[in-house]
Amino acid sequence: MAKEKFYITTPIYYPSDKLHIGHSYCTVATDTMARYKRLRGYDVMFLTGTDEHGQKIERIATGQGMTPKEYTDKVVAGIKDLWKLMEISYDRFIRTTDDYHVKAVQKIFKQLYDQGDIYKSSYEGWYCTPCESFFTETQLKDGKCPDCGRDVELLKEESYFFRLSKYGDKIIKYYEENPEFLQPNTRQNEMIANFLKPGLEDLAVSRTSFKWGVPVEFDPGHIVYVWIDALSNYVTAMGYGSDNDADYQKYWPADVHVVGKEIVRFHAIIWPAMLMALNMPLPKKVFGHGWLVINGGKMSKSVGNVVDPVVLVEKYGVDAIRYFLLREIAFGQDGNFTNEALIQRINSDLANDLGNLVSRTCGMIEKYFGGKLPADRAETEFDADLKAVAAATIPVVEAKMDNMLFSDALIEIWNLIRRTNKYIDETQPWVLCKDEAKKAELANALYNVAESIRIISILIQPFMPLTPAKIWAQLNIAAGELTEWESTKTWGLLPAELAVQKGETLFPRIDMKKELEALEAAIKASQATSIANQKKEEEKKEEPKKEEAKAPAHEEPEYPAEITIDDFCKVQLKVGEVIESNEVPKSKKLLRNVVKFGDEERVIFSGIKSTYAPGELVGKRVVVAYNLKPRKMMGEMSYGMILCAEDSDGKLSILTTLDENFESGSAIS
Ligand code: MSP
Repeated sequence: MAKEKFYITTPIYYPSDKLHIGHSYCTVATDTMARYKRLRGYDVMFLTGTDEHGQKIERIATGQGMTPKEYTDKVVAGIKDLWKLMEISYDRFIRTTDDYHVKAVQKIFKQLYDQGDIYKSSYEGWYCTPCESFFTETQLKDGKCPDCGRDVELLKEESYFFRLSKYGDKIIKYYEENPEFLQPNTRQNEMIANFLKPGLEDLAVSRTSFKWGVPVEFDPGHIVYVWIDALSNYVTAMGYGSDNDADYQKYWPADVHVVGKEIVRFHAIIWPAMLMALNMPLPKKVFGHGWLVINGGKMSKSVGNVVDPVVLVEKYGVDAIRYFLLREIAFGQDGNFTNEALIQRINSDLANDLGNLVSRTCGMIEKYFGGKLPADRAETEFDADLKAVAAATIPVVEAKMDNMLFSDALIEIWNLIRRTNKYIDETQPWVLCKDEAKKAELANALYNVAESIRIISILIQPFMPLTPAKIWAQLNIAAGELTEWESTKTWGLLPAELAVQKGETLFPRIDMKKELEALEAAIKASQATSIANQKKEEEKKEEPKKEEAKAPAHEEPEYPAEITIDDFCKVQLKVGEVIESNEVPKSKKLLRNVVKFGDEERVIFSGIKSTYAPGELVGKRVVVAYNLKPRKMMGEMSYGMILCAEDSDGKLSILTTLDENFESGSAIS
């Protein structure tokens, strides 16, 4: 009989030089589900990939002197390495720069345009470049981006629009008829209350102010990005829109899209509307998980609180990290990441409960029977309950897994682990071993413990890809019939004469106090590198960003252009005396300076906080680009730019005049 298919996806990741443990959380959860379904006999298709287009990537690449494709090639290789480290068993990896994807997106765009679901108009709105999102006036929070709190700019641009407004009622109806579609249920209420009930607006789906996207074939200058480009990956990866769509026919609709809560709207409103317009079936489920937070805030590179999964995996092993992520946080809710909680879980659940169970069992079989259990066994009064608990655990674990309740499934498995440890305490092998007449009971007790360990080793497979094989090596069983999921449902499959070899400790106990210091230092060191890289990226793009975004695409310089002396003379440079230099609330980079030019005083914001403390520049004569077009920063106008040098580590040095008392307001030429 043909296997039933199961198609599961992660979001496609923005290519970043360092994905953090929050990103890994999403992928590990998806991987766990994919592994579970494979064990249950499904023909699984697990898709992941990278979302490579957009202005942000274009800027970062240019800042690093690379083409966007060169940049994404480099970081995508790093992302694939991370997934290898995290034991992510994806079946297919899509890059939105893949040729077949680009062609299919162009086809989809054209079809939607031809049938009137896409039309051309122009867009005016507040744009946040880091978030690549437009907002209406009312969506802004205190005049800033509602998502990241940064400055936004008013842009007007010719754009193609998708008629999203047409689909609101149909989507509400779809939710009503398919209550399982969007999980957890609270996400559905959020979508209805926040977006669907107030009414959907048509969506800008093309841009002209940058080039790094999928070109609209019939209208050069326009490129498709984000929505139609990124979301359609789930079908283009299966061959939709290509000459060979056999996988699309086989796997679509997806059984579940696993996504973080901030992109639920894309997947539960925009994507269904696109599919409805294309007359294609909708995914069966969208699961919006919560965030890994640190001190209540989302872990994110721009906040600078990221935890590097490589540091953690190198220290504690991938299985411990995967276990922690899925056990500590109820899937669907936010969960706090702390080093203490991680070490606590490793010590109590992994070292004490599981690791100790395996090592003391093998140790006792070695000690009492020279490593080989005799077939002659006699039941004890405690056996029935252990077997009953094991038998009852399996269907509950299955039910929890089918509902993606990973943490609950692990709680059930650990109940069985603890019950097995308790069985050892009840049967007291160390007492039985003293009485020759009790040898058969002793053999039986240890056999039962080993059999329970076999069942446990199978149940933990989706979560912990490496530990089960280590256990099997100690129990001397090969992967096969005795390690299949269904085999958990029969008690007593281990060979009657069981030979064991005690192996390495599965999870060494950690000295909490010592380790916390070492771990904090390792995480901080990795954050420092990450923040320095981030700063370099941001500062390279921050300054020219505002002007660039408004410039028509064809005017964007790809290389530093040569200028004439006349051009240079247009820049008016002046000596200014800093008379105030203060912190700016909510800004990590900026100082608000008041600079004096003779009798005139000007406010000039400057991104120098990383190097100069507030007040430090007061009294200094600085060099200022004086006739720069004023612009609004942090809600206030800034008049000019203080010049400064930057070294390769991002350290800054203000340009000053040699004569410390040089008259302020003097021209520089
Ligand atoms: N490219 C878009 C997705 C397009 S899908 C058609 C994107 N990429 S992302 O790289 O920013 O995020 C990928 C996934 O990682 C998202 O599901 C996001 O929620 C998840 N996470 C990023 N930071 C996270 C935490 N701190 N905690 C949990 N998940 C987090 O969004």
